[in-house]
Amino acid sequence: MLSFISAKEAAEKWDISQRRVAVLCSENRINGAMMVGNMWIIPSNATKPIDKRTIRYEKQKNIVLKPFVKWVGGKGQLVDQLEKMFPANGERVLTKYAEPMVGGGALFFNVLSKYDFDEFYIGDINPELINAYQVIKNDVDNLISKLNEMQITFLPMDENGRKYYYYSIRERFNNTGLSNETATEKASQFIFLNKTCFNGLYRVNRKGQFNVPMGAYKNPTICDEENLLNIHDALQNVTIVCGDYSLSKSFIDNETFVYLDPPYRPISETSGFTAYNTDTFDDNEQRRLAQFIDEINKSGAKIVLSNSDPKNINEEDNFFDDLYKDYTINRVEATRMINSNAEKRGKINELLIHN
Ligand SMILES: C[S@@+](CC[C@H](N)C(=O)[O-])C[C@H]1O[C@@H](n2cnc3c(N)ncnc32)[C@H](O)[C@@H]1O
Repeated sequence: MLSFISAKEAAEKWDISQRRVAVLCSENRINGAMMVGNMWIIPSNATKPIDKRTIRYEKQKNIVLKPFVKWVGGKGQLVDQLEKMFPANGERVLTKYAEPMVGGGALFFNVLSKYDFDEFYIGDINPELINAYQVIKNDVDNLISKLNEMQITFLPMDENGRKYYYYSIRERFNNTGLSNETATEKASQFIFLNKTCFNGLYRVNRKGQFNVPMGAYKNPTICDEENLLNIHDALQNVTIVCGDYSLSKSFIDNETFVYLDPPYRPISETSGFTAYNTDTFDDNEQRRLAQFIDEINKSGAKIVLSNSDPKNINEEDNFFDDLYKDYTINRVEATRMINSNAEKRGKINELLIHN
């Protein structure tokens, strides 16, 4: 006589999540599995199906999604190195992707373009940035029409006209609180300011007001309609959270790839740029993050963290080597602004820390 086990028992037996067992059952990949009430039961002699999901590491889609804002600390340059951190095809199964300090999302958009994860989580503590992600997800048509209007108005203006326009948008942005009613308006102002301000910086004063002056771009693309529409489609499957990275804990499990890219520990007295919001990310914050990483490490997630290498300026500085002594630390080369003078760019090492 055929005997059955529960999805929970199958999950334990095959060392996969219960959710994964349910997915395999619903995809008819387990012979004889049946739904009884709202639970799956599985023949006790069923074998674990070969996991086709390892092919998720093959590039499957053709649409290239690009970050919709320029962001300080953007990881465009490191995407190739970060991609190498994905386990090799067949090595292990990862079904979820989490980036709890997503910023402009250089890696996130690359992953979203190319790989098939079942679930995505992104978060950031910057409410205006997260609002922009949410508006692209939920109200992209209105956003595009507002950005188009700004682009058509701004681009033909002379410098004085542009300045007047830029500073009036900046003032409106600073004087309007974020709410359901203002979300789309504010997202359009946020993207406009990012595209036209000095170096695409996001810097706020003590009162939390955006205070970056106008930049000198000749012909900035304020409304990249095609990219926004592509992002809109891709975000439908993404959970977007405003707040501390620790909120991602409940999402993370042993099938999750987690990428954390905190604000840099400044590499010199003058070049440090960590003021993404009014709170700074000091050494205590770096320690709190390391504790969080230890916690999620216990869940079995694959974790990658990037940071600046303090050894770029002080060979003796072992801050991260000590903090992450139980992890693997790779040093990779990147070109970064190493001085407040934008002309002075140089090769420095960045840290890629992983379990
Ligand atoms: C170096 S940037 C990330 C850049 C991103 N990897 C990219 O490619 O654009 C760091 C981000 O962490 C966010 N952040 C700072 N403190 C945070 C916290 N406690 N929780 C979540 N996000 C935080 C900042 O708002 C900023 O967007």
